[in-house]
Amino acid sequence: MTLVPGTVRPRRLRTTPALRRLVSESRLHPADLILPMFVKETLSEPAPLTSMPGVVQHTLDSLLEAANEAVDAGVGGLMLFGIPEHKDNDGSQADDPEGILNRALTLLRDNLGDTTVIMADLCLDEFTSHGHCGVLDSAGGVDNDATLTRYASMAVSQARAGAHVVGLSGMMDGQVAACREALDLEGFTDVVVMAYSAKYASAFFGPFREAVDSELQGDRKTYQQDPANGREAMRELDLDLAEGADIVMVKPGMPYLDVLAEVACESPVPVWAYQVSGEYAMIEFAASAGAIDRERAIEESLIAFKRAGADAILTYWATEVAQRLTSQTQDGAL
Ligand code: PBG
Repeated sequence: MTLVPGTVRPRRLRTTPALRRLVSESRLHPADLILPMFVKETLSEPAPLTSMPGVVQHTLDSLLEAANEAVDAGVGGLMLFGIPEHKDNDGSQADDPEGILNRALTLLRDNLGDTTVIMADLCLDEFTSHGHCGVLDSAGGVDNDATLTRYASMAVSQARAGAHVVGLSGMMDGQVAACREALDLEGFTDVVVMAYSAKYASAFFGPFREAVDSELQGDRKTYQQDPANGREAMRELDLDLAEGADIVMVKPGMPYLDVLAEVACESPVPVWAYQVSGEYAMIEFAASAGAIDRERAIEESLIAFKRAGADAILTYWATEVAQRLTSQTQDGAL
């Protein structure tokens, strides 16, 4: 068959909203969206974040309220980050059953049970006085293997507190195996290990540092990946799979869609992406300056993750977008 110029018209499939909807290759669904949430020990009122307009650090009460709102909107799950009153060298609040993150997990699990998926960030940076994701050696470097012991203990305490999923975001070698083994030894064989497999030393984490009151001096370049490297992400993926990761993640999102697409092609387990704080801030600030249409930019940024192959997306807009998707479906507008 020869194609006669002019008879092949891709625009034909774009003529009506209904036709465009029918031929859409990627879709967003509320269940694909995971809401990251911050809970801070010292607060008596929720505290808005100046670098992330619309996002707050929660009290335990406001956390529960926002969690209920997210679950009602149909989001797929919740990812908790805790900010303790006292930070120290070893991040001792991280695996203390009375630590703020573990208390928050228990509160949510007691109230929400298995109606949603409750997840916790498993990393030391929110808990250490130096702000690094691991414990330090005598020279001030991050001690990989000593950190694994801390992560294993955190995994067990988060599981005990009610986490369905532990989110390993520290980029230590061997962290998946260490946490899996500790969980299994304590009988938590059903607790899911989600590994941030490809996590880059990124400027786009900037606003998050305010969100967790980070004390970090310096950078995380000795453990997070170099933004220049794509092949290395596949090596991290292979290792995490071999160590037993149930879900893998690529982070940040938008600057790393090529990595996401490749991981999504190769991975036999679900692949998630994290639309991080800086991506959120860019869109919010550009929209409030009148430079872009906020809602369209949010939706375009999220559908890009789906197109690249993400099964689910962590996004600070999870509740808002889930609510919008549900009302659009009811209106028949989607
Ligand atoms: C580490 C962690 C970070 C983020 C999630 N988990 C910060 C970092 O690695 O520096 C960033 C999330 C965001 O920017 O939205 N606990």
